[in-house]
Parts: sequence; structure tokens; C-alpha cells
Amino acid sequence: MQTFLKSVEMLNKFNWPLWHWHIEVSSICTLKCPRCPRNELPETLVQDQLRLDFFKNSFTKDVIRQIERISFCGDDGDPIYAKEFLEIIQYLKQVKPTMNILIITNGSYKKSEWWKKLVSYLNEHDEIHFSLDGWDQKSNQKYRVNCDWESIITGIKTVVGHAPTITWAGIVFSFNEHNINMMKGMAIGLGMDKFQITQSTKFGYNYDHYNDSEGRDMYEPSIDNISTQGRFDRKIFHLTNKRVKQDKAIQTNLDHFQSVHATETGIVPLCMIGTKGLYINSQGYFLPCCWVGNRYNFKTYSKFLIDDLNIYKNGIENVLNNDFWEEFFENFHNLMECKTKCAAHLVNKEYATNW
Ligand SMILES: C[S@@+](CC[C@H](N)C(=O)[O-])C[C@H]1O[C@@H](n2cnc3c(N)ncnc32)[C@H](O)[C@@H]1O
Ligand code: SF4
Ligand code: SF4
Repeated sequence: MQTFLKSVEMLNKFNWPLWHWHIEVSSICTLKCPRCPRNELPETLVQDQLRLDFFKNSFTKDVIRQIERISFCGDDGDPIYAKEFLEIIQYLKQVKPTMNILIITNGSYKKSEWWKKLVSYLNEHDEIHFSLDGWDQKSNQKYRVNCDWESIITGIKTVVGHAPTITWAGIVFSFNEHNINMMKGMAIGLGMDKFQITQSTKFGYNYDHYNDSEGRDMYEPSIDNISTQGRFDRKIFHLTNKRVKQDKAIQTNLDHFQSVHATETGIVPLCMIGTKGLYINSQGYFLPCCWVGNRYNFKTYSKFLIDDLNIYKNGIENVLNNDFWEEFFENFHNLMECKTKCAAHLVNKEYATNW
């Protein structure tokens, strides 16, 4: 008689949305984008990376079974510089080929061979975003300081035409706002599938410290291209007919959004919906989202840097079920990030369903 090993459902007493994780596989980067936290907050930057062993030990088959999406982005680094990134992707996709993997990268300094291997492990459920704010070395390096345009284009040309959806993701700055259509035309010419434009908040209009002594911010575009609502604004254009296969993220977000109600203190926690992804940083610490995971408010961030919440030390199940979270959910309305990013008046259907 054949016997089957029964999979064991992980305890999840706080009802974390286990379907989406956001993993900072590397806090290492070769670029020096001036408004990235790695350059704005160099004193508290820790450069680290997650290894294949971490994934094999923590993301066991039973955990992976419940995951629909993993976003590889991070607050401080770039996923492609994790030494074992290819092996990690290979492992995850072998265990669950239908998982959506989203990779967000500056795209610099990798050879064609590396990109070929990456796309051989990915499939039509996956997406790669190239973060490009210019149209050649000179223009891209105005913000993407130290980028390498030649290798970026090699990377794009290598991955286009394979199974994953390939996106050009640009941020609007003063130096590119009149060339956005030209950039979109280049994305079409390169055969890319999507063109995404982000209006950032990080300008002198919102934060005075970005202005020089004459009150001018050299990166700031015209007012129409600045986000003034505390979180970036985004426009997405499809350039081809390709769509990420079984991309259930928006529907899953929506289902969770409808079941997550505002707390008495007026917070609709996106971390309970799954929109942002449950966050693991490059040192293995778990935080409910990348907003509390960034280092701008070090007092908030450092509350999570305890052994109890380190997945290396305690494993996913223990970390997610730790009593720490009872107190956290009782008091999170006092945290600046939760008050500003997840206030009930902000979280409408669109806000709650978009990454
Ligand atoms: C820290 S980066 C990590 C991923 C990767 N290194 C990259 O740059 O795409 C996280 C995200 O921040 C975005 N970003 C960088 N500078 C920004 C800015 N000034 N305003 C808004 N988003 C920014 C990046 O484009 C990326 O989507
Ligand atoms: S490429 Fe990404 S991680 Fe690297 S400096 Fe720029 S924004 Fe930061
Ligand atoms: S800002 Fe606070 S409430 Fe919102 S997703 Fe992050 S931890 Fe959750």
C-alpha cells in the first residue's frame, strides 16, 4: 500500500497573509542613487545577503506551498548582487513553479550568461523590472549614479523574448520628464512588455532638506509629476499582449482588503492584506512591511531587531507567532509609519491592491 507524507499546516495565530513575501535578499548594491536609503543613511547601513541555505531551512515545502508571490526588491540593496541569487530562484521555482516572482533591479554589471541562467529558472508567472530613469549612460547616471548602461542593455536583450514579463520602470525627475515618451519608445524598441512610471515623493516640494540654499531641488520635476500624498503614484502601460500568468495578486489583495477592517484606532493594516508583502531583510529579521523596515525612523526600525524576530535564529513559524505581535497590534496606531501609510482615510480599493 502506498503511503503519503501529510503536509503540516503552519500555525498562524495572527492571520498573517502568508501568500505574499517581500524579501531583501541583498542589501548590497554597486550604485549610489542619491535618494536611496543606503546613501541617505550610511551610518546605519548593514550590507548583508541571504544565502541558499537560509531559503532551504526557512522556506520549506510546507511554507512555500502557501506562497503565491515573492517580491525581490528591498530597502537598501539590489537582489542581483546576492551571490546565490540564481540558486535561490532555482530552488523556489523547483518547489513551486506557479509562484509569481517579481525581481526589481537596476540591472547593471551582470553578463549575458548570468541573465540567461536567470530566465532559464523563471517562467511565465514571473516578472523582471529594470529600474531605468534615463535613456543612455549619461542620462541614466544622473540619478542611477555608477550604473553601467551597456550591461543593462545586454541584460534586457538577453531576457526579452523569454517567458517572464519584462518591465521598464522609471521615476520622473527634472532631467527626464520631457523624455518619458522617448523612453517608452525605447522600451517598445527593445521588445519590453511593460512601461511603468513612478511619481516620487522625495523632492524639495515635500521635504525641504532636498532644497539647496536657493530653495531649489535639482532633481525635482514639475508639480504634476510629484506625488504629494505620502506614497508614490504610479502609471503602468502594457506594450505587448503578454501578461504575467495567473497573477492573482490584485484579486487576492482585494479579497483580503474586503475582510480586513479598520481598527478602532483608524488603521487599515496593509500588512494584514498582503499588498506590500511580509518583509524579511538581508539579515533575516522579519518586519510586517518594508515601510517599517527602512531605516529613516531608526527608533521604529530597531524595535524589530531582536533575536525573537530573526528567522535565522527562530524559524518562520516561531517568529510569526511570537507574543511580540500582540503588543504590536495593540499599539501600532502610535507608530508614525502606520499612521501615515495605513490610515483608514488613505486605504481605498486602489491603494490596498497595488504594490
Ligand atoms: C532600494 S531599491 C531596491 C531595488 C533596486 N535596487 C532598484 O533600485 O530597483 C527599491 C525601490 O526604490 C526605488 N527608488 C529609488 N530611488 C527612489 C526615489 N528617489 N523615489 C522613489 N523611488 C525610488 C527603486 O527604483 C526601487 O523600485
Ligand atoms: S540601485 Fe536600488 S539599491 Fe542601488 S542605490 Fe539605487 S535605489 Fe539604492
Ligand atoms: S505601515 Fe504599519 S500598518 Fe502599514 S503595513 Fe506597515 S506595519 Fe502594517
